[in-house]
Amino acid sequence: MAAEQREKFGGRLAVILAMAGSAIGLGNIWRFPYMVGEHGGAAFVIVYIIATLLISLPVFLSEVMIGRRSHTNARDAFARLSRHHPFWKAAGYLTIIIPTLIASYYSVIGGWSLEYLFQSCAFRLSAMDPAETSGIFGAFVTKSWAPVAMHLLFLLLTVGVVAGGVKAGIEKFSKITLPVLFVLIVVILVYSVSLPGSAAGVSYLLKPDWSELTPRTFAYAMGQSFFSLSLGMGAIITYGSYVNKKENILSTSAGTAVSDLLFAILAGFAIMPAVFAAGIEPGAGPGLIFQSIPYVFAKMGTDLPVVSGIVSILFFLTIVVAAMTSCISLVEVGVSFLMERTGMSRGKACVLLFGICGGLGVLCSLSFGPLSGFKVAGMTLFDLFDWVCSNILLLVMGLLAVVFVGWILPRRVVHDEFTSRNRYAFNNRIFPVVWFLIKWIAPVAVLIIFLTNFIL
Ligand code: TRP
Repeated sequence: MAAEQREKFGGRLAVILAMAGSAIGLGNIWRFPYMVGEHGGAAFVIVYIIATLLISLPVFLSEVMIGRRSHTNARDAFARLSRHHPFWKAAGYLTIIIPTLIASYYSVIGGWSLEYLFQSCAFRLSAMDPAETSGIFGAFVTKSWAPVAMHLLFLLLTVGVVAGGVKAGIEKFSKITLPVLFVLIVVILVYSVSLPGSAAGVSYLLKPDWSELTPRTFAYAMGQSFFSLSLGMGAIITYGSYVNKKENILSTSAGTAVSDLLFAILAGFAIMPAVFAAGIEPGAGPGLIFQSIPYVFAKMGTDLPVVSGIVSILFFLTIVVAAMTSCISLVEVGVSFLMERTGMSRGKACVLLFGICGGLGVLCSLSFGPLSGFKVAGMTLFDLFDWVCSNILLLVMGLLAVVFVGWILPRRVVHDEFTSRNRYAFNNRIFPVVWFLIKWIAPVAVLIIFLTNFIL
């Protein structure tokens, strides 16, 4: 497509909303709280905040710059800007493989959310005895076919939207659901903090226990930060290519990073107090929110059954939608690649991706039940997929993006992009700092953190 014809985002708010739409998803609501619980509470949160601002933000800026400069899709962006260097052409392929892998297990969690949505619609969560809520998650995921069916249903809905190509519709939809989710998370936060026994959860998030801080904390905090900001697989490069040449990319990137961070922390404060009030182990793993949130609704249901029923429906509905919009962007990467490279029709590409992600996801889903004994390097298949993607592949690809901007692109070009051709005085002034972060701090930090994965 000729450069002039490529679509552009409207204004600054539109850019932030679109990027935040991709960023805010299960990563914030489901993954962040259980990562905090598994890796030491407040100490993890602090490392996470620092990593996001010092390392992920420069990587984010790099990806936006690669996209805006090259004005093309993620795979061709590296090729075009490096004048078709074979290494960078090959690197582009990672941007296709990673999202397909993530979509496989992401849709398993999407399936769990769907199950909880159905349970809420039957007013089961609000009518439950609070003492029994922690058991429902385990009883559900260890079944073989029920979670698999939900996973496939979630994936089918996602792929269905991708096949229809109704991008505009779903994007408008997510603009409404994100603010709703925001409000609901605050409602749950307030209620959850008021539960008896919740204070321990609040202090768990506020009082760091530095003895919990290990090299692993850094590795997982970095991985979580990349996952949550949709870094390291071309999503932000692609969005960057739609950003107007005059736009101030520092404010849009920082705006996205800060809202994503804020959302994760709100989710942490909504979930952790409930975890402690319900007497659940914070390190319970991927099921954490699915064990603790029903307790909140069951408790609320003892006084206000109707309100609790309605809030639970809205809550899981918005989670399903937030998960779907993120999953759509993951599946779309593979679909557009297949269409452009092999000339396959959109429908065929969708069927193929449904097959690949569905098949891999079934294995991940069964790894909570019948396949739970099957372990590779001490991890179940689900944990292995998640670990390989977040702690290895996203970091590799993110590292390649900052190295590309810091070491391959001429400084003049980066300055031009960062300041939108000297349009913003503040950007001009802080460019040396950003350049230093991109050239030295971010790559060296990501490399060291990446290596700690192997020397633990
Ligand atoms: N960031 C999303 C979340 O937090 C997930 C996601 C969407 C993602 N696109 C991505 C993660 C690209 C990594 C790369 O739920």
